[in-house]
Amino acid sequence: MTNEVQKAIITGASNGIGRFLTEKLLNEGIQVIAVTRSGNIENFTHPNLTVVKGDISDEGSINQAIEQIGQIASQVDYLINNAGVGPDLGDEIPTAEHLNTSFAVNTTGTVLFTEGVLKYLKNDAHVVFLSTAMALIRNAGPNGPAYRMSKAAINMYAVILAQRLAERNIRVTPLHPGWVQTRMGGENAPVTVEQSVTGIYKALTENTESGKFWNIEVGGLEEY
Ligand SMILES: NC(=O)c1ccc[n+]([C@@H]2O[C@H](COP(=O)([O-])OP(=O)(O)OC[C@H]3O[C@@H](n4cnc5c(N)ncnc54)[C@H](OP(=O)(O)O)[C@@H]3O)[C@@H](O)[C@H]2O)c1
Repeated sequence: MTNEVQKAIITGASNGIGRFLTEKLLNEGIQVIAVTRSGNIENFTHPNLTVVKGDISDEGSINQAIEQIGQIASQVDYLINNAGVGPDLGDEIPTAEHLNTSFAVNTTGTVLFTEGVLKYLKNDAHVVFLSTAMALIRNAGPNGPAYRMSKAAINMYAVILAQRLAERNIRVTPLHPGWVQTRMGGENAPVTVEQSVTGIYKALTENTESGKFWNIEVGGLEEY
């Protein structure tokens, strides 16, 4: 029996959670195809890492990235939709600009990219979305309305996708990575990137359910 090397695709790997999760996956012996806007990860290379250029807010760029990924990967075990923006986290009034930017990356681009790479996933694969507990209805609050709505939409898509992919035994998990010390989370966030990545890796490898919401601060599943 051969032990095949596992493969992962991750978006938004240039910074923050995506950057550290890429390193964690590589350290776990997983081959990684990372998508970044620049087509590289600053000051980081690894023999098992391929970086593909892709802007998740741009349909043409997404399609190019999907095509390029198809030339280098099949039978992928993990798809991690991490790329995200939160332009109105400090604001209460949603503007057209903030809605468009948030939905372009967090929702439309994430959905189009996911749909495009589904054909490269193996049966039994796991699709993860970096969502947020801020998008759960019971946690509604004043700040970040466009951000919250765009992530709430991805939670719904995750459940729809889980239903559709059940016949391929592909699991789908939207998750809350904690409030994390990144460019988006800010320096006052209580969770380090290392702690968050450890929790995400646990969800990625241990969650056996599909279409359920995972909260790394809980260390498991919680209700929507
Ligand atoms: N930090 C938190 O407390 C927290 C809490 C809940 C959920 N999340 C979610 O976790 C994910 C990662 O956030 P983070 O905290 O690591 O934020 P971050 O440090 O700002 O990193 C965001 C990543 O997404 C990439 N990205 C943004 N727009 C993109 C686009 N159009 N195309 C491709 N990549 C794009 C960024 O690339 P560039 O470097 O090119 O900008 C960067 O690599 C996001 O989806 C976020 O909503 C974070």
